[in-house]
Amino acid sequence: MNFLDLAKRRYATKKYDAAQKISTEKIETLKEIIRLSPSSINSQPWKFTFVTDESLKKQLAAQSYMNENSINDVGLLVVFSVMEDIADFEKRNISVLPEGWIAFYEQMVKSNGDAATKSWMENQVYLSLGYFLSACISMGLDATPMEGIDRKAYKELLPQNGYNPLFAVTVGYADASDTMHPDVLPKSRFEQSEIIQSI
Ligand SMILES: Cc1cc2nc3c(=O)[nH]c(=O)nc-3n(C[C@H](O)[C@H](O)[C@H](O)COP(=O)(O)O)c2cc1C
Repeated sequence: MNFLDLAKRRYATKKYDAAQKISTEKIETLKEIIRLSPSSINSQPWKFTFVTDESLKKQLAAQSYMNENSINDVGLLVVFSVMEDIADFEKRNISVLPEGWIAFYEQMVKSNGDAATKSWMENQVYLSLGYFLSACISMGLDATPMEGIDRKAYKELLPQNGYNPLFAVTVGYADASDTMHPDVLPKSRFEQSEIIQSI
């Protein structure tokens, strides 16, 4: 299937088939794919926590508002986290980069202050989300990005030393009764004329 067809098919799945769980092999492939995610100056300020343990998943589900049922039904929950401490990030991730890239970081990112630097780090993690969602559908997997999580509770439940959870993604197989499936509910997007300029 080409990318446009995959884009039409992927959707934020609301109901998963609890009887059909993702295989260990596919989970291992997803781990390697997300490791290869791109980031500005290859800064990689992230941690991806793959949760399959049912008991932990249930505790996380209870801290996930409207996403609780999806998380309980699905086989895999991936938590995307960002590095917490700028000094640690600079020591581990930035100092090892080529000089020109360090200069980019110093002049274009760090000079804007801590809040802007943290926001830039989070942007890198969000970029990996788009990449991950595309990877999932290319493997025949349904997925849902979820900002509807209690970040503080997630941090307490997970071994997240030095990282802050930002959002989570469920990965599995949609239930045939999911009314959000694009075959049932067509995708809602602005028209090209409203969002794309060709000059
Ligand atoms: C960053 C982000 C956070 C989202 N958080 C949630 C969420 O917590 N729960 C949910 O059911 N959908 C969530 N969504 C799904 C969006 O509502 C969905 O992508 C959007 O309505 C477009 O629909 P589609 O992805 O099915 O095409 C989120 C999407 C993104 C990109």
